[in-house]
Amino acid sequence: MKAVILAGGTGTRLKPLTYWTNKHLLPVGSYPMICYGITKLRDSGIREIVIITSRASLGSFADVLGSGRDWGVSIMYRVQEEAGGIAQALELARPIMSSKDKFLVLLGDNLFEESLLPYCEQFAKQASGAMVLLKKVDDPRRYGVPKLDEASGRILLIEEKPENPQSDYCVTGAYFYDTEVFDLINDVKPSRRGELEITDVNNAYALNGQLSYRELTGWWTDAGTFESLEEAGRRLKGAIS
Ligand code: G1P
Repeated sequence: MKAVILAGGTGTRLKPLTYWTNKHLLPVGSYPMICYGITKLRDSGIREIVIITSRASLGSFADVLGSGRDWGVSIMYRVQEEAGGIAQALELARPIMSSKDKFLVLLGDNLFEESLLPYCEQFAKQASGAMVLLKKVDDPRRYGVPKLDEASGRILLIEEKPENPQSDYCVTGAYFYDTEVFDLINDVKPSRRGELEITDVNNAYALNGQLSYRELTGWWTDAGTFESLEEAGRRLKGAIS
């Protein structure tokens, strides 16, 4: 299985730290944040990784990771010229995938305790469609929140940052897709903030009854705010071997 790490964006919630560097290169424990995603993918058996980032940050990612050789993976880079949303960034991976590929998309600020290998294996067995990983959280209003159909193991709908969440779960930034995702992205319209939203793409799968889910058991955090960045640092001190 291949993987795509989305590592663009403006890191608004982490300003002023992100005035001088990309969010995904900020220190977490002893390493730049992106290194945890890379090792998590490698340890899940994934060897081909596409990193999508901005033109301004590309050189810094290459400084840290190079070809991926020292990390035991092969890294390709794609440049998102303007910030246009997670789904628009993902579309840039289209030329790298073959029509039958199934792949994992990771938001680069999402950090996981457990191995993603069992989930990769489960998705490999899913005939088609998409799968997301959920985590129970204290304040779901910060995230994409799913409405679940527990009987079928499917998601009916995801609401992005809802006022009145329909569950205590958050959709984490680990998404498994087949290549239909690229056609679905083409059909998505820009949101009110002018971006192609990944939640709209996931909802297109949900509408077709094609969005399954699994619940993470270990800790998970996105490191996109000062509080969660600090939490990530505490949890991951010295964690890469
Ligand atoms: C994004 C997604 C959201 C998801 C979150 C996980 O939100 O839009 O659905 O729950 O990542 O980290 P963002 O962090 O871009 O606000």
